[in-house]
Amino acid sequence: MSGFKKSGEHPAEQSEKEQFVIGETEMTLATAAKPDELMLSSSEAAAAKEAQVSGNAGTSKTSAAAPLLQVRGLKKHFPVAKGWFSRKNDYVRAVDGLDFDVMPGETLGIVGESGCGKSTAGQMIVQLLEPTDGQVIFDGTDLASLSGEQVRRARRDLQLVFQDPYSSLNPRMTVYDLVAEPLIVHGLASGKALKAEVMRLLEAVGLGPQHAARYPHEFSGGQRQRIGIARALALKPKMIVCDEPVSALDVSIQAQVLNLLKDLQEQFELTYIFIAHGLPSVKHISDRIAVMYLGKIVEIGSREDLFASPKHPYTEALLDAVPVPDPRLRRKREPLSGELPSPVNPPSGCAFHPRCPYAQDICRQQAPALEQKAEGQSAACHFPRHMDEASTASR
Ligand SMILES: Nc1ncnc2c1ncn2[C@@H]1O[C@H](COP(=O)(O)OP(=O)(O)OP(=O)(O)O)[C@@H](O)[C@H]1O
Ligand code: SF4
Ligand SMILES: [Mg+2]
Repeated sequence: MSGFKKSGEHPAEQSEKEQFVIGETEMTLATAAKPDELMLSSSEAAAAKEAQVSGNAGTSKTSAAAPLLQVRGLKKHFPVAKGWFSRKNDYVRAVDGLDFDVMPGETLGIVGESGCGKSTAGQMIVQLLEPTDGQVIFDGTDLASLSGEQVRRARRDLQLVFQDPYSSLNPRMTVYDLVAEPLIVHGLASGKALKAEVMRLLEAVGLGPQHAARYPHEFSGGQRQRIGIARALALKPKMIVCDEPVSALDVSIQAQVLNLLKDLQEQFELTYIFIAHGLPSVKHISDRIAVMYLGKIVEIGSREDLFASPKHPYTEALLDAVPVPDPRLRRKREPLSGELPSPVNPPSGCAFHPRCPYAQDICRQQAPALEQKAEGQSAACHFPRHMDEASTASR
């Protein structure tokens, strides 16, 4: 059973003081998990690390490693019932054309205001929602081309960790049963091997045998998230989509769970998509960050570039919303005003124009394309910011 990279050194042992948390869900995904497939060679890992520095929307600076995930033109339009006769001629454009890659071992943060389409995108990637259009190519395979057992196997590789661990854990099941369930359902272990695997998973997330017979209500929020993470890990996924996994937790617990996720990523060579509302939540865990606005990516780039030199005014506004402890360093711009427009009738041209302090006529008429503005950093804006700070500005 084991895609575990090392056997004697679990994250729990590395960070014994942590107490945990995390929620998740059993989700599903993927392909036959041969242990070897879960690991990269050192050269592949190095290439992936190098490539992940890229901030480009769809491609990486280097092509030494193949992307684990390629998202192409991904859309989800939910029909809206209208009027007495329920004519479904309006659509919530929840996700309206996403293009990006995620390299093996990378963490891509996805941020944006409530309702911008983050969860919808995540659910399409893990195959919980069927896209209206576009492709999710995982490990070189277009998931839409799979059927039956292939889909089930593919879903093992793609797991989802949810914001609320309590609602994703059956309150009538013990921790042992909760963690064993995915292994049993997928026929991956039984008998002594099952027990050993469950104990190993609990240990990996910082829990122990003493927790196995307890029920979810007997745990703290952080510990419940750890149970959820153990369930996600059970199927040895290659990628985990973490949909606001720490938002519901006390601030003091959030760091512990983030550290756990980082430890697990290293140990099991996981690839993450990490969804959050704000940039601070993804700062320390992300290699690259995609900023979403009304169903589209408006900027994507390395964490360092986005924080140091945001190109899109919306990214800049999100950064301005981050509290600055030293009053002398407070930013002088006005905070972002107004609310996210309706995804049913998005504004013309650049959807951000009603809230943008730099909007000009062209912004109301013509939607800007997501284009490279600096090496590894793309934005969708006619008048990108901080171009003088970019080393290889393209406009
Ligand atoms: N099943 C559905 N039917 C109709 N509209 C939906 C459905 N699911 C989501 N939406 C709408 O799609 C848009 C995007 O929702 P989504 O949950 O993806 O946003 P989000 O960025 O995850 O928000 P939050 O940060 O609040 O979790 C919202 O306007 C939402 O109301
Ligand atoms: S295209 Fe115009 S309105 Fe849109 S973000 Fe850029 S400057 Fe603002
Ligand atoms: Mg959401």
